Formats: sequence, structure tokens, C-alpha cells
Amino acid sequence: MTKHKLIVGNWKMHGIIPEASIMIEKLKKELGEVKKTEVVICPPFVDLMSADESVKGTNLKLGAQNIFWEEEGAFTGEISPLMLKGLCKYVIVGHSERRIYLGETDKMVAKKAAACVRHELTPILCVGDSLQDFAEGFSKVTILSQLQAGVNLLTSDEVKKIVIAYEPIWAIGTGKNCTPNKAAEVIKDIKHTIGEMFGKEASDKIRVLYGGSVKAKNSNDYFEFPEVDGLLVGGASVDHHEFSKIIMGAEKHEK
Ligand code: 13P
Repeated sequence: MTKHKLIVGNWKMHGIIPEASIMIEKLKKELGEVKKTEVVICPPFVDLMSADESVKGTNLKLGAQNIFWEEEGAFTGEISPLMLKGLCKYVIVGHSERRIYLGETDKMVAKKAAACVRHELTPILCVGDSLQDFAEGFSKVTILSQLQAGVNLLTSDEVKKIVIAYEPIWAIGTGKNCTPNKAAEVIKDIKHTIGEMFGKEASDKIRVLYGGSVKAKNSNDYFEFPEVDGLLVGGASVDHHEFSKIIMGAEKHEK
């Protein structure tokens, strides 16, 4: 089974209207032919409509950076799966910035992931260890417990379709990326755990990305490890030169 690389750009809180469309136009101009690598851009919610226009006729896809689990109701400020369906294919859930600054719990993340799959949106479920976990040797415990809790409401059929992103908190925005070797080791552990919980087919099919200080200068090193199914890129995804280099690097590594 060939899995194509998945490269996701998380713009975070960048891209004030009309920058989003300008940024996508620049990226389109710079990108060479991308036939196999799947590329997803996740702009802020308010940019999704104009981004949708900009990606028409290309194979760029869109993702959201968050979601709420209910379909409709008195939930001020929230965005439902029904609002995103049709606009995006992917949704980032459980990013560490939301866990840290907005108090998102494992239970909330699990509900978001389940809401996505039940509305034919693909969740990109983020898990990651803190610097303290890393220093004290608790990285694996933290990562796997976030993983187990995050997929808790899914069936084995559903889990096959989701994407996991391993994003060590100590590597996000710090310039200190996790080595490709170490990232591949963690990704193997993640797939092994999915296998134990849901069976071999699920662990073979699930895609697991690495994210944290990925730049054009280090991105290709991750593609040397077949366990790494792609990358979740923050800062470098809002720079069209950097992001297009990362994408073209992935495309070169496709079989
Ligand atoms: P950076 O690539 O800026 O470190 O951010 C990674 C990230 O959090 C992507 O979701």
C-alpha cells in the first residue's frame, strides 16, 4: 500500500484578510508540479472562504485549526462540523497551544476527533510531550496517554482514516526540532499503540506526521524514515518560499 506524504501548513493566528489569498497565490506561483504529495493549508477560520476560492482548480486542500463537537446551538464563538463541511477536508484537533492556553482536555479533544470523523472531516489529532516530560523521562507516557484518550470514542474503522501529529512542545517555535531518528521512533510507538488498540489494519493505514520547527533545511531528513508519513509545519508554512521547498522535497521522495 503506497501512502503519499502529507504536508500540512498550520498558519496559526496569521493571515489577516486579504493576506490569506495573497499568500496562497504566491505559493501557487512558486510550487512546481505536485502530483503525489498531499498538501493542506490551515488558515484561520475567517480566511477559509477566500482561501477556498484561491485553491480552486489546484490540488491544494484546506483544513481548519479547530472545531466544536456539537452541530448547532448556544455555543458562543464556536464553529461546528456542519459549518466546516464542504469548506475543508481536514481539522487540527488538540494542538498543544489550545491545550495550554485554552484549557482543552483529552476528553474535549476526543469529542472533537469523533465529531470530525462522523461528519467526513479528517481530524489531525496532535499529541506531544512538554520540556518537563522530556527532561524527566516521561515523554512516552504523556504521548501515549494523550493518544489513547484522543482516539477513545472512535471505532477501528474510523481510526484508520484519521491523522495523528507528533508535536513535541519543546520543539514548537523554538528552532530545536526533534531529530528525525527520534521522531520516527515515537511515530513507531504511536502506530504500535494504535495496533494494540484497534488491530494491524488500523496501524498500517493510519498516517502519523511530525511537527515542531520544521524548515526547508531539515524537512528532507524526515522523509528518509518511512514511518514518518508527513509533516505539520507552523512558522515555515506562512513563508511561501520555505513551504514550497518543503513540499517539493516531499514530492521528490515519493515513490
Ligand atoms: P513550528 O513549525 O512553528 O515550530 O510550529 C509547529 C506547529 O505547532 C504546527 O502545528
